[in-house]
Amino acid sequence: MARLPNDEQMMDLAARVAESSRRLARPNPWVGAVVRTPDGRVATGATGRPGHDHAEIAALNKLGGASAGSTMWVTLEPCSHWGKTPPCAKRIIEAGVSKVVVSIADPDPRVNGTGIAMLRQAGVEVQVGVGAKRRSQELRPYLLSRAMGRPYVLLKLAMTADGFTAAADGSSKWITGDAARRRVQELRADSDAILVGAGTVRADDPRLDLRSEGLERWADSPRRIVLGEIPEQAKVQPALSWRGGIVPLLDKLGDEGVIQLMVEGGAAVAHSFLSLGLVDEFRLFIAPKVLGGSAGRRLFEGVGAQSMHEALRMRTFETMSWDEDVEIAMLSEPAHVLLQELRSQGALPRA
Ligand SMILES: NC(=O)c1ccc[n+]([C@@H]2O[C@H](COP(=O)([O-])OP(=O)(O)OC[C@H]3O[C@@H](n4cnc5c(N)ncnc54)[C@H](OP(=O)(O)O)[C@@H]3O)[C@@H](O)[C@H]2O)c1
Repeated sequence: MARLPNDEQMMDLAARVAESSRRLARPNPWVGAVVRTPDGRVATGATGRPGHDHAEIAALNKLGGASAGSTMWVTLEPCSHWGKTPPCAKRIIEAGVSKVVVSIADPDPRVNGTGIAMLRQAGVEVQVGVGAKRRSQELRPYLLSRAMGRPYVLLKLAMTADGFTAAADGSSKWITGDAARRRVQELRADSDAILVGAGTVRADDPRLDLRSEGLERWADSPRRIVLGEIPEQAKVQPALSWRGGIVPLLDKLGDEGVIQLMVEGGAAVAHSFLSLGLVDEFRLFIAPKVLGGSAGRRLFEGVGAQSMHEALRMRTFETMSWDEDVEIAMLSEPAHVLLQELRSQGALPRA
């Protein structure tokens, strides 16, 4: 008799299903669920657009009510509160599911272990932590934004091999090639908002929209924000021109459901975010081009660490090549530590 897939394999399947809703589900987390009935039928579900079914319900619905005694694998703790849809934990209990395998607990203060507690109180066996390392990595913008109570900030910059983000005349088009720029479109599609400084708008007049073929189907262009004045005719319009501080801006965006804010420069804005400790993820694109002098714009403009032991520690978690360009993805040390805390098996996040 063929051996049944193990918990890790079922959770990997749930994660693949979740990925299909990554750009649809926000501001909700993109979650995947798999249900297997005692007689071996399997149904999958992913979280739909806001107001539509969450992953667990989508999977249960496919079984048409015949889910008593089944096992569910779900990438994130089922919710326990009424939002636009009823609590998933309640529906799972009513459906007679006997075991729920959860990859990672949900740090959203409205959930924060209560979904797991509700299931256990109703006699459902719950196992937490299966595949948590990979799931926490995939869900890191969501998990960290909920745990920090502000949007997850991804800083993306492109530089020449000798460390310049713009030449002495201010030009930065184009440092990287087509493939890397298409990759940036993907990062934009995964973000809820994009931010640049007024200096970048004046120098480059960027549109900051989604224009790679196919991406428009999956995500609306993220909202655009400029720190400082926006010239009336700028291509970035319509955009929010923000003249206040960065922390109040993040508070406002968090309240509006922004999970991931992508900061695309320039050097003054990058320095402001970094010096406030507000860069969670740093994606650096390096192109094989050399300006070869000392004039030009650096990655960060402002006062930085004065000695190597004061340097900010980043953790590289991904490197990729895009034709001749290289992308390095790093997590800040505080983000890395918090993510580790959130994924420690069975542990529930901080209150
Ligand atoms: N290679 C890359 O990845 C990349 C990416 C982006 C830009 N660039 C290049 O970088 C250059 C622009 O960079 P930049 O450093 O001159 O300008 P910037 O960082 O884009 O914008 C700085 C301006 O933003 C406004 N601002 C408002 N609040 C701010 C805050 N809290 N912190 C910092 N700025 C704030 C100020 O404008 P006001 O004084 O008008 O309010 C400030 O002068 C251009 O040459 C562009 O081509 C390169």
